[in-house]
Amino acid sequence: MIRIKNSVEIEKMRKAGKLAAQLLNHIEPYVKEGVSTLYLNNLCAVYTKIHGAVSAPLNYGGFPKSICTSINNVVCHGIPSANDILKSGDIVNIDVTVILDGFHGDTSRTFIIGNVDSSISDFVHRAEKAMNLGIDAVKPGRYLYEVGRTIEQYISRFGYSIVRDYTGHGIGEKFHENPQVFHHFTKANRIRLREGMIFTIEPMINMGNSYKVRTSRQDGWTVTTTDGSLSAQFEHTILVTAQGTEILTVV
Ligand code: MF3
Ligand code: CO
Ligand code: CO
Repeated sequence: MIRIKNSVEIEKMRKAGKLAAQLLNHIEPYVKEGVSTLYLNNLCAVYTKIHGAVSAPLNYGGFPKSICTSINNVVCHGIPSANDILKSGDIVNIDVTVILDGFHGDTSRTFIIGNVDSSISDFVHRAEKAMNLGIDAVKPGRYLYEVGRTIEQYISRFGYSIVRDYTGHGIGEKFHENPQVFHHFTKANRIRLREGMIFTIEPMINMGNSYKVRTSRQDGWTVTTTDGSLSAQFEHTILVTAQGTEILTVV
């Protein structure tokens, strides 16, 4: 049910992960006040293509664009648009996934635009730390639920909440494979970690105390917090190694 990748597959996942990380770095200087999320989408589409890869989100389950851009109270799956112009005080998650030589690399970061209140920058930095603590919890022989347990233990002290309806996922030749990786503690993830597993860790953290989200009835994609609070997310694709983990979505 959970496929263990062989050394050839792992090498291809390293290359795909590296390209996804390079793509995020490529657009970073453009993620500024005044730019539209459609412009960022188009930069990503071109960069991906010239590097011989394919944008995985485009047409995935009918998704209409090449990346996801999720601003402020948007949790995930925001659709890039010419009408969405970044402004000072916004936070925006940019989630990119490339397919290179048949294998996927999936990574995202939340960027802060201009000046935000320190309560908001603290929140974003804690969302990143939550992802990193989750990654550090991964070791062969442990249960996968240690990821969610670790993230929950860290996040709960701030009064934030962890989205439950969207999870990390196995990844390889398919965008979303088993297992689902929960970012809160649940026995559903009583699964032994084994060397050669590859999955994402991508906690979506809501600044308010409600983890509830809803999907837009207008576009069928945009997921927002039900209470209107901000949501932040960071994502890496990781490989379980004998020592612990190797982050694949790094340059
Ligand atoms: N990149 C997202 C993830 O981390 C999935 C986006 S699916 C799409 O799993 F269809 F919205 F692109
Ligand atoms: Co992603
Ligand atoms: Co993902």
